[in-house]
Amino acid sequence: MSQLIYERMRDAFEQLNMPRALENVDALLDRVGNNELSVVELLDQLLGAELSARRERSITMRLKLAGLPGIKTIDQFDFGFQPSLDEGKVRDLHTLRFLSNGQNVIFLGPPGCGKTHLSTSLGHAAITAGEMVHFTTARELFAKLRSSSGLHFKRLTANRAKLLIIDEIGYEPLDHEAARNFFRLVCERYERGSIVLTSNKRFSEWGELIGDDTLAGAILDRLLHHATTFAINGPSYRLKEKRRVGFLDDGDRKGGELR
Ligand SMILES: Nc1ncnc2c1ncn2[C@@H]1O[C@H](COP(=O)(O)OP(=O)(O)O)[C@@H](O)[C@H]1O
Ligand SMILES: [Mg+2]
Repeated sequence: MSQLIYERMRDAFEQLNMPRALENVDALLDRVGNNELSVVELLDQLLGAELSARRERSITMRLKLAGLPGIKTIDQFDFGFQPSLDEGKVRDLHTLRFLSNGQNVIFLGPPGCGKTHLSTSLGHAAITAGEMVHFTTARELFAKLRSSSGLHFKRLTANRAKLLIIDEIGYEPLDHEAARNFFRLVCERYERGSIVLTSNKRFSEWGELIGDDTLAGAILDRLLHHATTFAINGPSYRLKEKRRVGFLDDGDRKGGELR
């Protein structure tokens, strides 16, 4: 191979933004020279390496944009600790079929039962599968919705993601504007983009939470039309950890929460 062609090839990899191929090409050419690799295998390995590097980069970028509170996966979840949870159903969700149909997922339950863990692990699975995800707490979301209006609202990253995770609905009551914005968001995403939502409140308490039974009914009607709901009825994993390291004894526990 003439020096000129070799340099032109390296230059082409650079211009095509293929750094991984550039990095690997010399070692692969050596193996072709030693008859260890065919030309087709060379091309296959070169392109394969570049594609997997691109996939890694795009996952890293989408992870950064998603704002997940950490990396949690389904394999880190101890189903033995939470027997009220249907493991098969939760695992099935991680196949992400619900995303293609714009269906919603709702995790209800007391503090520490794994709601944020499971919603984060769904987010992580979706990002790995190539989807855009946006994680937000209810408090952040309603503050953002308050400061946006009209067209702006549609362009919010929160609204454009294929999967919107809203964590911790119910810790603070919603005022009328927050409730109306929540309704608009749920309507805009209805059957288009999935919502994963976590709450410590039962649906029967949403009227009080939102301060308007009719609006709460309208939100729940759309949210629940195509949704899988998990009402986790179990102990706090945080308390288990604390007890394990000796911070608590059973007298510190009351109604599944810290006193
Ligand atoms: N069943 C479980 N197996 C493993 N870790 C768990 C389990 N449930 C909760 N955790 C961990 O305990 C902590 C609290 O869980 P989290 O999901 O934040 O609870 P919640 O959002 O319901 O208050 C997190 O670090 C989470 O990863
Ligand atoms: Mg939580």
